[in-house]
Amino acid sequence: MAVKPSRRVSSARPDRSSSGIVPVAFYKDMVWNLRNGVVAITRDGRIAVMNEIAYHVLGLKPRASDIGRPFGEVLKDVPDVLRIVAGAFEVSHLPNRAELRLKKTGKVIGYTLSLVKDARGRTVGATLFFKDLTRVEQLEERERLRDRLAALGEMAAAIAHEVKNPLAGIEVMSGLLKRQLPDSPDAQTILADIIKEAKMANRIVQEVLAFVRPIRLEVEDISVVDVIRDAIAMAESHSLKGNVEVRVDVPEALRPIQGDPAQLRQIFTNFLTNAFEAMNGTGVVEITAAAVEGDEESGPGGAELGTGPTIVITVSDNGPGVPPEVMDRIFSPFFTTKPQGSGLGLAIVRKIVDAHDGRIDVSQRAGGGTVFRVTLPVRSPQQVFG
Ligand SMILES: Nc1ncnc2c1ncn2[C@@H]1O[C@H](COP(=O)(O)OP(=O)(O)OP(=O)(O)O)[C@@H](O)[C@H]1O
Ligand SMILES: [Mg+2]
Repeated sequence: MAVKPSRRVSSARPDRSSSGIVPVAFYKDMVWNLRNGVVAITRDGRIAVMNEIAYHVLGLKPRASDIGRPFGEVLKDVPDVLRIVAGAFEVSHLPNRAELRLKKTGKVIGYTLSLVKDARGRTVGATLFFKDLTRVEQLEERERLRDRLAALGEMAAAIAHEVKNPLAGIEVMSGLLKRQLPDSPDAQTILADIIKEAKMANRIVQEVLAFVRPIRLEVEDISVVDVIRDAIAMAESHSLKGNVEVRVDVPEALRPIQGDPAQLRQIFTNFLTNAFEAMNGTGVVEITAAAVEGDEESGPGGAELGTGPTIVITVSDNGPGVPPEVMDRIFSPFFTTKPQGSGLGLAIVRKIVDAHDGRIDVSQRAGGGTVFRVTLPVRSPQQVFG
């Protein structure tokens, strides 16, 4: 006699009664430690599960008492997520994968929503499963920037190359003429000006060429304190420091990082040069550095970069500050507010930080001035960045 296959839906499920070998606490620990966020609610709208990473990504404080509370109360500070969870039982087709930018934290999450069914197929709850995509977004943004810079760089390099030789010609021939007209003070003044201007144009051309050339990192273990000290000396020799005081608050015991010393020195030289130029002879520049431990998935307590331990360095000044309307343009190549500036200082900074797989932010300092914050991974990949 042929055995009729069972038509019960649940026949394909692993039998839960045999889970005696796996203690129930295991499931709890597993969910709590998942590297994706999980929020599950019961059919009557109470929080059934909420794991650590969910709290972290949503920017909420974990509280044991949340389990069993109405989800509307627990998630009230993240209304965008609240709305998704609230709709779980209503929508006929749950999204397979959707993305959302959280208003509260600015983080981008990719999520799926699924119903929890019991063995008889009845809906007993719903689960929101999500992942923090902020890091992925940052990488995509960097990729776009790289493409833009590559196109811009090619054009700038071609122009700079064409202009370089005529400029050198102007400088040499003006020098010759200057020597032939020793008795004409007017001609001497004009020719001196021509030479000065040609030199300045040449400096800009050199800077452009340096900027568009791919960065080849010579990575070694370096001390952040040494890099900062060298940068201070370099910036002081470049620009008018006046009575500006430079304070360095970097722990001597700060762990070394892997990076290119010359390139990293350039970052802080450019920051300091800008600060000196902005402050016009008086004020204070403060440099701090601190180690931040992290883990790869930007988990709780983790560094935002998602690349393990990092060093966060801030350079702040109490100068006039960057006007808010130009704040998002200061890192663009050729953006300058200075008559003699080339606008490449911060663009070079950003390129070097990117090459080290780091991150950079700028903000207004409370009480006036500017704060630049550079986050560098302790371990840097050896790479070429175009
Ligand atoms: N510490 C600061 N305080 C106020 N404004 C700043 C500061 N740093 C940068 N800026 C603004 O950002 C602009 C861009 O800076 P960036 O270093 O890229 O170019 P630059 O200093 O103008 O020229 P370059 O560095 O090539 O000589 C500056 O022109 C200035 O307006
Ligand atoms: Mg500058």
